[in-house]
Amino acid sequence: MTGHFAPSSADCINSRRTIHALQGMNAMPYFLRELSRVDLARLTKWRNERDLISQLNTAFRYVGQETDLDWFNEYIANRFNNIRLAICEAESEKFIGVVYLLEIDWINRNAEHAIWIGDKSFQGRGAGEFATRSLLHHAFTDLNLHRLHLTVLATNERALKLYRKVGFVEEGRLRQAVYKEGHYVDLIRMGMLEGEYVRPTVKPADIVYSSPVPPEQPKPKARRFLSSSARAV
Ligand SMILES: CC(C)(COP(=O)(O)OP(=O)(O)OC[C@H]1O[C@@H](n2cnc3c(N)ncnc32)[C@H](O)[C@@H]1OP(=O)(O)O)[C@@H](O)C(=O)NCCC(=O)NCCS
Repeated sequence: MTGHFAPSSADCINSRRTIHALQGMNAMPYFLRELSRVDLARLTKWRNERDLISQLNTAFRYVGQETDLDWFNEYIANRFNNIRLAICEAESEKFIGVVYLLEIDWINRNAEHAIWIGDKSFQGRGAGEFATRSLLHHAFTDLNLHRLHLTVLATNERALKLYRKVGFVEEGRLRQAVYKEGHYVDLIRMGMLEGEYVRPTVKPADIVYSSPVPPEQPKPKARRFLSSSARAV
């Protein structure tokens, strides 16, 4: 296995999850589709969860169904410059989160990336990485964009790690830019250029981000030294 999506054996050992590239197999745990009106009830519920919103750089607001319906209608009206996708679990088709390309600038060929896994039971199970990598592929391979950017709270270690992992680089820090839960928090600006995007050697649709944690392998009987062939298994 080679290429951007294929981890080295060391990555496999260190990662909380194993990422498989399974060409020709229908075992994808997640897929993306355009956000739909039917998703709004779930989305509105997530928007009212303080612990979720506390990780985003927007302020917590109480949001009702009418507000979200207006917001969705505005998206449909401005769909040419914005892409709002639902992240779904493949097996159940359950809607678990959203990933966006916003304010696409077709002259300078850039856009803002945003993501949240609203269903907390799916956080840390590969959906964020799947959706981000799939969106990068869409942005650079389908839409011919040149640059993506995002902002993330300096306190959001989980998101920072994900963005660094997929290749975003830090471009600056906006000091005390956001007021969250009674405190000012710094914002980190990150970006990725078209030339920095490493195209996968397999299609994103063929990538499986397996989850949650691979089952424990039975421990080998205690042996003081392993031969190199035994270590490779
Ligand atoms: C941040 C978020 C998008 C990450 O998606 P996810 O599905 O939970 O993460 P994944 O399982 O795909 O993990 C991908 C990488 O993210 C990082 N990561 C994920 N969970 C982590 C955790 N609990 N601690 C530290 N890093 C973590 C790791 O680098 C991980 O790669 P690894 O498993 O090889 O170490 C998701 O947790 C989320 O939506 N959180 C709430 C909202 C939010 O913070 N959105 C981003 C705002 S800028």
